[in-house]
Amino acid sequence: MENIGIFDSGIGGVTVLKEIIKVLPNENYIYYSDSKNNPYGDKNQEEILKICDDIVANLLKENCKSIVIACNTASAIASSFLREKYNDLPIIAIEPAYKMVHDYSYDKPTLIMATKGTIESEKFNLLLKKYNNNKTYILPCVGLADKIEDGNEKEIKQVLKLELEKYRGIVKNVVLGCTHYPLVKEGIKEILGENIEFFDGSPRLALHLKEILKEKNLLNEDFENYKNDYNLENKIKFIDSSNDIKKEKRFFEILEKSSKK
Ligand code: DGL
Repeated sequence: MENIGIFDSGIGGVTVLKEIIKVLPNENYIYYSDSKNNPYGDKNQEEILKICDDIVANLLKENCKSIVIACNTASAIASSFLREKYNDLPIIAIEPAYKMVHDYSYDKPTLIMATKGTIESEKFNLLLKKYNNNKTYILPCVGLADKIEDGNEKEIKQVLKLELEKYRGIVKNVVLGCTHYPLVKEGIKEILGENIEFFDGSPRLALHLKEILKEKNLLNEDFENYKNDYNLENKIKFIDSSNDIKKEKRFFEILEKSSKK
């Protein structure tokens, strides 16, 4: 049985996987949470390339037919390298949903929240140049993904307040340019206001993944086995690089909760 491999620097990629499962409920997944190396956002490019290269090699040993990079930082730095190295393997990579702002909400002042690694990358800067609405603020949220990974509500609130307060009343769109950030949407709203519109690339990535798998005849058509089986733990093998059992528990809790929404 073939799998879809998906990875992030920790459990943040759960926000991507939840969208993928909505459109591809019949697939099997291997989720690799690289909490040993979290956060990626403050690492240099060479380190990130090496880390991602090793993860993909490991996922391929787990019989993966496709790889999803569910981390904006890893995508920004390593996706071209990995696509070149594995040119037959479909590698789908998340990126900050700034094009969506261009397409749907071009006139509104926009805040892009992402890691320092993403913001400094060439890929991100090309995206910014291409779709710039000239009303965009860029915010490298140093340490935020790390706090979300740890899950300490009080500390998350403190960082959000410190980072976001100056944009209250100024921005209307928020691009969630790190896969950990959709987990704190409510906290962001508390500071920036209820009417903020979020832009998250995950739903589009999920549709794109489906299209690519279909095109390559790689969709799992074995529906019979799945009809009565909506138990997420049977569909997803969770691996954490630091063998942290708490991570797995939290990952499945978030997934269960969000798939009921
Ligand atoms: N979730 C990752 C992203 O989308 C990064 C978090 C980190 O800095 O490790 O960028």
